[in-house]
Amino acid sequence: MLEKSNLFLKNINNLNNQGKKGSQAPVDDILDSTLRPKDWENYVGQDKVKQNLKVIIEAAQQRKESPEHLLLYGNPGLGKTTLAYLISQEIGADIRITSGPALERSGDLAAILTNLTEGSVLFVDEIHRLSRVVEECLYPAMEEFKLNLILGKGPMARIMELKVPRFTLIGATTKLASMSSPLRSRFGATFGLNFYTLEDIQKILTRSSRLLNVEIEDPALSIIAKTARFTPRVANHLLRRVRDFAQVRGQGIITKDSAQNSLQSVEIDESGLTNNDQRILEALIHKFAGGPVGLKTLASATAEEEDTILDIYEPYLMRLGLIALTPRGRVATKLAFEHLGLKPPSRLL
Ligand SMILES: Nc1ncnc2c1ncn2[C@@H]1O[C@H](COP(=O)(O)OP(=O)(O)OP(=O)(O)O)[C@@H](O)[C@H]1O
Ligand SMILES: [Mg+2]
Repeated sequence: MLEKSNLFLKNINNLNNQGKKGSQAPVDDILDSTLRPKDWENYVGQDKVKQNLKVIIEAAQQRKESPEHLLLYGNPGLGKTTLAYLISQEIGADIRITSGPALERSGDLAAILTNLTEGSVLFVDEIHRLSRVVEECLYPAMEEFKLNLILGKGPMARIMELKVPRFTLIGATTKLASMSSPLRSRFGATFGLNFYTLEDIQKILTRSSRLLNVEIEDPALSIIAKTARFTPRVANHLLRRVRDFAQVRGQGIITKDSAQNSLQSVEIDESGLTNNDQRILEALIHKFAGGPVGLKTLASATAEEEDTILDIYEPYLMRLGLIALTPRGRVATKLAFEHLGLKPPSRLL
């Protein structure tokens, strides 16, 4: 049986994979889109990114052109898809959504591109997972709004050039480094989304609790915010779980106690660490004497996938200052030993 915290992270992963594997529960799906900000004012934080995007959009509108292709990168749940919707709304354009793995063959891409309306937005999620063939087919479409399709095979093969409507491509990725540099360089602008501040997460939670019609006391708000991994999706997810507990076991109002109890029930500690985060830290400290240790070794020692360690656990553990990356691998910091109630080794004192 899965541990509760495993289930929690599985849920986070499901949410993170929203629309990608069709694995998300419909109720969460509906709630997620209810909570998704529909205008810039409600898109909290990321001020620099918002400012720069607005300038790009306004300048293009003044020139009566479509904005350049835009690339958004950042950890899961930080707001890339939401931003893509807001951009298309600001441009006043239709948005067509697909993802890297969904575009298996160049014909899939051709079908989408030729059906776009002039000036619309094509959003490609997980763009780092495009196949080489599709990627190469995308280059002329991005640069000159044309497709070179190869018809037939062998000596009889010929290239057919097809015009496609002008469009703005918005690519989103959690793994900028996995994208080829020719693809990266074809975007007019690239924006990285950062983790949110506690203050911003609190603002998001306040708005979400209003939309979910649930009363939440200030101390409870700050407890949930501290456990939200600086990530809006996790904040909303936790709020929904805490709301369920308050509804079933309490008075329907989220109090400090009910927030603490429900987070304890799903095995999340006061800094937002799950059992799995703790396991990574413990392995690093107990099996590898605090490191340095390589990703592959840590993954096999903890029976976790390398990608999950890289995308879910490490960014947060690093953000909390519990692990650090060195050229020889990751190491546990003094804080990590203290967090587990252990005496740090003398080299860290
Ligand atoms: N800046 C924000 N302000 C308020 N809420 C936000 C913000 N960014 C994200 N959210 C909330 O978090 C949820 C997840 O955001 P979103 O789906 O845009 O993340 P993502 O970066 O596309 O994640 P993934 O990499 O998994 O696709 C949204 O449904 C929305 O409710
Ligand atoms: Mg997304």
